[in-house]
Amino acid sequence: MTDLTVHLTRDDVVRGLRSDVLTGLTATPKTLPPKWFYDARGSELFEEITRLEEYYPTRAEREVLTDRAGEIAGLSSARTLVELGSGSSEKTRLLLDALRDRGTLREIVALDVSEAALTSSVEFLRSAYAPAAVHGVVGDFTQHLALLPGAAPRMVVFLGGTIGNFVPVERAKFLSALRDNLAPGEWLLLGTDLAKDRDTLVRAYDDADGVTAEFNRNVLHVLNRELAADFDVAAFEHVAVWNEEEERIEMRLRATRAMRVRIPAMNLEVDFAEGEEMRTEVSSKFQPDRVASELADAGFALTKWWTDKLGRFGVSLSQAAE
Ligand code: AVJ
Repeated sequence: MTDLTVHLTRDDVVRGLRSDVLTGLTATPKTLPPKWFYDARGSELFEEITRLEEYYPTRAEREVLTDRAGEIAGLSSARTLVELGSGSSEKTRLLLDALRDRGTLREIVALDVSEAALTSSVEFLRSAYAPAAVHGVVGDFTQHLALLPGAAPRMVVFLGGTIGNFVPVERAKFLSALRDNLAPGEWLLLGTDLAKDRDTLVRAYDDADGVTAEFNRNVLHVLNRELAADFDVAAFEHVAVWNEEEERIEMRLRATRAMRVRIPAMNLEVDFAEGEEMRTEVSSKFQPDRVASELADAGFALTKWWTDKLGRFGVSLSQAAE
């Protein structure tokens, strides 16, 4: 048995899902938060997305970390690496290797909502980075930032461009909460996907093999299973659009016919019109100076900024200010 600290029980998760479904499916337009994509099947589909020719962010970020992990370790001399939303942890290993080689690594904290994902990554981290202490924390990075252990200076690592899933107000709140839970001088390493031409972006979120379409529709399977909803999943089409004004990709599910969906576990019936679109994800794309100004607004001082050679993806290292 892997010992994990649990801040989020299975009951909390189901309560959160119900609350999000009630809010999102009774709103106009309808929305669902992207965090519900990631059951076992959804996590598998996301891993498949990261290997698609069209989906450049994972490769671009990996290029930066491969080239810069030593420099990041040297600048931070972090004793604790804290990974938010640890997922498969694959890119984090580049950083852990560099911190270990530098001799500063003492502790690793992995935070994830999925106990299953966490168990396997914690076991791997314990064997690969002994004698570093590994803390697995089951929690939500929008709720449990105050409860993160580890010796200072910690480096909080938030990769993949996941910060893009927040709308601007949520993003500002998240960054400020993170800053408030760090001591001055502690570190944030943040991955941000950058604004670029519409075609490249739409292709990355609407791949030719339909993997992203299946990933998107998977959220309806999650609702069917967890809430006994009766979504006819095949009756929804995947849509990926570039919202120029908001500088973000939006994924939506479009009802191909009028239908009524029942969610008996919540006493809810929801009508969809033919062609109605429900938003399931925003993935914001940043101008570099925007990243810098949002970090500054939250109380972080930018130490250094890198991109891949093609300038598609940015990684920033910043420090909690006094
Ligand atoms: C894991 C949130 C970074 O927004 O690009 C991939 C998720 N959605 N394809 C992203 C995702 C559609 C991904 N993040």
